[in-house]
Amino acid sequence: MPSSSFRKHPKVLFVTPEVFPLCKTGGLGDVSAALPAALLELKTDIRLLLPGYPAVLAGLKSKRKVAKLDLLPHFPPATLFSSRLQVNESVSVPLYVIHCPQLYQREGGIYLDSNGQDWPDNAQRFGLLSKTGALLASDASPLAWVPDIVHCNDWQSGLTPAYLHYHPGKKAISLMALHNLAFQGSFPPDETVKLGLPPESFSMHGVEYYGNLSFLKAGIYYATRITTVSPTYAREIQSEPLGFGLQGLLAERSNDVSGIVNGIDTVIWNPATDPHIVKQYSTRSLAAKKYNKRALQREMGLEENALIPLFAGISRLSHQKGYDLLLQIAPALISLPAQLVLLGSGDSRLEKQLITLAQTYPGKAAVRTDYDERLAHRINAGADCFLMPSRFEPCGLNQMYSQCYGTPPIVHATGGLIDTVVDLNDETLADKSASGFYFHEMTPESFMNAVRRAIGTYANTRLWKTLQHSGMNRDFSWRTSAATYLSIYSSLMQQQQSS
Ligand code: ADP
Ligand code: GLC
Repeated sequence: MPSSSFRKHPKVLFVTPEVFPLCKTGGLGDVSAALPAALLELKTDIRLLLPGYPAVLAGLKSKRKVAKLDLLPHFPPATLFSSRLQVNESVSVPLYVIHCPQLYQREGGIYLDSNGQDWPDNAQRFGLLSKTGALLASDASPLAWVPDIVHCNDWQSGLTPAYLHYHPGKKAISLMALHNLAFQGSFPPDETVKLGLPPESFSMHGVEYYGNLSFLKAGIYYATRITTVSPTYAREIQSEPLGFGLQGLLAERSNDVSGIVNGIDTVIWNPATDPHIVKQYSTRSLAAKKYNKRALQREMGLEENALIPLFAGISRLSHQKGYDLLLQIAPALISLPAQLVLLGSGDSRLEKQLITLAQTYPGKAAVRTDYDERLAHRINAGADCFLMPSRFEPCGLNQMYSQCYGTPPIVHATGGLIDTVVDLNDETLADKSASGFYFHEMTPESFMNAVRRAIGTYANTRLWKTLQHSGMNRDFSWRTSAATYLSIYSSLMQQQQSS
């Protein structure tokens, strides 16, 4: 909310559909915990807003009812709770939770039902999140604390800037953070009015997108500022194909778009203190990584062999992540010889193909198709090399986790993978910045070439160690990026004051 004198520490409402450790389907969950924690350390007065799924309500130690939310005739009654999110052992962030049993209290996923289909009432479920975000960010808020900035994340909070646009009173400045343009939240046109937006908002200059209501387009259209999660992705989304149809609008607004690379929680993802791994290690005790490799081989039923290179992948299984390509090269990779450990869930066809792979190569390939956060830590620690063949990747977090764990990644050269991994070549070898391997074409040949380059480097123990050290020594913390968000918040507040 604009104030008469410029305040140094902005008040920020961070609206998100998921947050680690309460509910997470991917990187947005990690970011929604670690970025606010880093901003809090920079003295930002930041609070989260989240839907009250069963896991959220069950995961909070204590909560207090702070308001009744009677937002729209089409919304079931809801209550706002206040609580705190324990991000890691040292930081907790204030949190508001929307308790609305009719929309959120159900078995299944947070976006999908148990058959993997979108919940049929997702427009309402995330309309309520967006509408509550707008309410709390305006002078109609039932709370005394009113933010200067509302930081929205992905389509699920995309209507917040639209609601604020149509709010006649005082309101916060909106920032729309894009984590993945492949998900846009598109619904039939009649949802527009049901969600309490004026009929005139359903236009090209508004929430309409190819004849439907698009939550994400609304966010991009109405937000004052747009951010995305890496500089390369910020450029990629301003043209085809990675703009997923929104490239025109994004290019039009390119002066308002910033790419800020994600960080990671370096308390949770630290091999020197990680409670989930068998033997902790750092650059100074890298030899101890071998105990994690042996333990992982044992746990996954692989042949216990210290010398064979162990490749790994951890991922949501979707077209984006390129696991179809990984499956294509798996037989060639295994015959190098090498071992393969994969942890992934999602697309049921891919899950089945992964299981078949493990059955075909017992002792050489091992697969788990559930979601297991602890196993993810053990894989990062136990593997030699991490595979990330994403078709596109707004930022990606696992390639950063793996570098911190001395497990150099092989990545498709796209999006945030380019911004966070340094490809090994003569130059990066000479200045000791190399931390992984790129492949440039989404083809089995190009991917396999990178795997062979990695195997060749792995055979040279000294060189491999240089690669490991360079990844482990990189600063992947949120420090710099959180400071960039803070300076954007401050400049937005200054601009508003001087306008
Ligand atoms: P995305 O958000 O597109 O899925 P990211 O790389 O940003 O990709 O984040 C993925 C996050 O989800 C990482 O923290 C990764 O470890 C985690 N993850 C994905 N699948 C699994 C799984 N099956 N088990 C455990 N963690 C997983
Ligand atoms: C999305 C992207 C991923 C990114 C994450 C967090 O899910 O697919 O690349 O790291 O959001 O920003």
